[in-house]
Amino acid sequence: MGLALSVALGVLAGCDGGGAATSASNSASNSATPRKPVLSLPAQVGQVAFFDRNLSGGKNMSCASCHDPQYAYGPPNSVSVQLGSDLTQTGVRAVPSLRYKESTPAYSDDAPNPDGVTSNSPGGGFMWDGRATTMSAQVALPLLNPLEMNNASKEAVVRAVRDGTYADLFRKAFGADVFDHTDVAFDALGKAIEALETEDLSFHPYSSKYDLYVFNKIGGNLTPAELRGETVFHSSGVANCSGCHYTGASFNGNTGLMTDFTYQALGAPRNDRSIPNNPDPIPANDDPGYFDMGLCGPYRIDHAPASPDTADPYCGMFKVPVLRNVATRGSYFHNGVFHSLEQVLDFYNTRDTNPEYWYPSRNDGTGAPKANPPWALQPVSVPGATVAKYNDLPAAQQGSLDEEMPLGTGEGGDKTLASGTRPRPAGSAPVMTPQQIADVVCFLGTLSDGYQPPAKPPTDGRCVK
Ligand code: HEC
Ligand code: HEC
Repeated sequence: MGLALSVALGVLAGCDGGGAATSASNSASNSATPRKPVLSLPAQVGQVAFFDRNLSGGKNMSCASCHDPQYAYGPPNSVSVQLGSDLTQTGVRAVPSLRYKESTPAYSDDAPNPDGVTSNSPGGGFMWDGRATTMSAQVALPLLNPLEMNNASKEAVVRAVRDGTYADLFRKAFGADVFDHTDVAFDALGKAIEALETEDLSFHPYSSKYDLYVFNKIGGNLTPAELRGETVFHSSGVANCSGCHYTGASFNGNTGLMTDFTYQALGAPRNDRSIPNNPDPIPANDDPGYFDMGLCGPYRIDHAPASPDTADPYCGMFKVPVLRNVATRGSYFHNGVFHSLEQVLDFYNTRDTNPEYWYPSRNDGTGAPKANPPWALQPVSVPGATVAKYNDLPAAQQGSLDEEMPLGTGEGGDKTLASGTRPRPAGSAPVMTPQQIADVVCFLGTLSDGYQPPAKPPTDGRCVK
């Protein structure tokens, strides 16, 4: 079973504290004064706890097993969803990178948009559905999730800390009597990890080629392909990527986070066995009644539809992810259904013009099956067959699907089907050319941290000319 094996290896190869230190020093090498800030006591606790496998039920998994510092604190493999500490069950969502989360505002149904123009909408918060309001509250979720770190109780977690090598450091940071009350100690652990994620430079190194470019530093010359990709990325009439993956200043002044912190429903294909040769369908999707609908549940519970057939505008919405370090990932979107950046771009481009590339068809077509492009999830399609579009959402919940450029014909502003923006007709021409897609992928490659300008600029290669 390839899936179990590769994930188990990921767990075994999971890191010790060394990884974080390496990436922190990488980033320091790009700044004028290579000085590592001293971490506060809580952050020092967090730095040990983040790598502590004793904080899992099976004593075999730390935060870093899934959020590996060598992979921008994302998963160290390309499987869609990771195996948990019990080594038999997998999770239900792709593991996000933990980089550049320090500016994420608290979740609100009515959050302002950093662009200052777009009207308020759901925004902020942690997890794909924003159900963790703060970074410290988030920490409880993986610790107690049976599909992840699988601890039986808060007591079990606190016991592991109290019996660990860093118990004294923990007392020093949070008070001599911190272990007297389970809740106090458990919450302190959350604060420790939040402090690490906020303070440690390795969580926000800003050491990509893009950073050199934006701040006009030596080595920051983008190639012609990367520059064309940047232009397409920003073009509201073509790719419109920055319409959601916002590159301007965010609420705390940081620029280039590549998210406006909002939630959108893009209609990603269901990651299940309806995809031929799917290397890793999500086991939960074997139940035809199960739908991961993001803001409207099932893991978030405050926006559940009144009944499965009552349309609920929150259904299908997931957080706009930070795109920094995206080229280092092996699976994409909340359900990990895509496995390359080209595939993601091709999905944006042809979700509505060629839904037969992405969604399964009913057996009612006529004529000879035709081969789909190599990047399509469905390898063949039969002319005339009915395509089960948007198959990861119940029919009643497809009304909030995004039809902005490049997915639909909308040009920003309105995001609902009801108000003017429309799906592109099946069979119509996609908006991006293959060259534009290749260029955007090159631009996304400039967002990877740890960039060292080469001594001699390359003269040949995919992203040069
Ligand atoms: C078994 C794999 C796994 C482990 C171990 C794990 N996580 Fe995660 N992490 C995930 C997944 C999957 C998500 C997305 C979950 C969701 O959206 O419901 C996530 C999301 C997050 C997020 C939210 C990021 C965002 O973009 O909003 C943070 C922060 C986080 N994890 C921190 C941690 C910390 C701290 C630990 C250790 C206490 C940890 N994780 C352990 C898999 C894991
Ligand atoms: C309407 C808002 C919107 C637009 C426009 C948009 N995106 Fe996204 N993007 C999202 C959302 C929301 C997700 C997560 C969807 C999900 O998981 O279901 C996402 C996910 C992604 C991912 C996967 C990242 C990961 O970590 O899994 C990539 C890559 C990406 N977008 C790139 C682009 C590019 C390139 C463009 C322009 C062609 C673009 N996006 C346009 C909202 C948008």
